[in-house]
Amino acid sequence: MMETGTNISPGRRILIAVTGASGSIYAERLIQECVTRFPRVYVVATDSARQVADHELISSYEDGRISLRHILSGDIAPNLREVIRVFRNDDLFAPVASGSSAPTDMIVVPCSMGSLARIAQGLSSNLVERAADVVMKQRRRLILVPRETPLNTIHLRNMLALSETGVDMVPAMPAFYQRPKSVDDMVDFVVGRVLELLEVDHGLYRPWNQRMR
Ligand SMILES: Cc1cc2nc3c(=O)[nH]c(=O)nc-3n(C[C@H](O)[C@H](O)[C@H](O)COP(=O)(O)O)c2cc1C
Repeated sequence: MMETGTNISPGRRILIAVTGASGSIYAERLIQECVTRFPRVYVVATDSARQVADHELISSYEDGRISLRHILSGDIAPNLREVIRVFRNDDLFAPVASGSSAPTDMIVVPCSMGSLARIAQGLSSNLVERAADVVMKQRRRLILVPRETPLNTIHLRNMLALSETGVDMVPAMPAFYQRPKSVDDMVDFVVGRVLELLEVDHGLYRPWNQRMR
């Protein structure tokens, strides 16, 4: 059965790692969805992720939705300070860097080919890479949302190596059969796929078996 915000285990702590691939909006949408469902949402971003987010995203929403750029600059609304915790990518003392306090789930979204390669090789040179390494060694759930096109053979080999260790690959590939009307619809399709792997119920799009004809 899918979990909802009311029946998610209180011990569930998810880490959302943002890297410098295009598609910061996927991370922003995932965070918006997760803060209403999970007791703890940890966030870490690479330097490149911050630069790409500055380039791609607006800084605030008039309807009060969470802005990734605000979160990354430490501007977190008082009612969310118990839920969201942001770590610096050079903070290897952060709890998520240790197997004894590993997150239950980690999503790297969007995932650059650089970070994907370093995770595949176990380099652990920053918190994103170290946390992914820990999540894999503790046999927890690691989901990557890679974004690049076209893919070269090295990208594909790295993805295969990670998939063979049990890492879930959710490429940022929106579908069109649900007839998206906006960029938000396309983003929601990818984010919905991540939530399904997290076994979280969502209403981001109409399931195929309830489709309009
Ligand atoms: C605007 C912009 C868009 C980018 N888009 C991608 C992308 O879609 N996929 C990718 O692998 N790298 C992309 N890059 C390159 C990465 O940001 C770069 O390889 C960086 O070193 C990744 O670092 P990180 O893995 O530490 O975040 C982009 C860079 C910029 C400036």
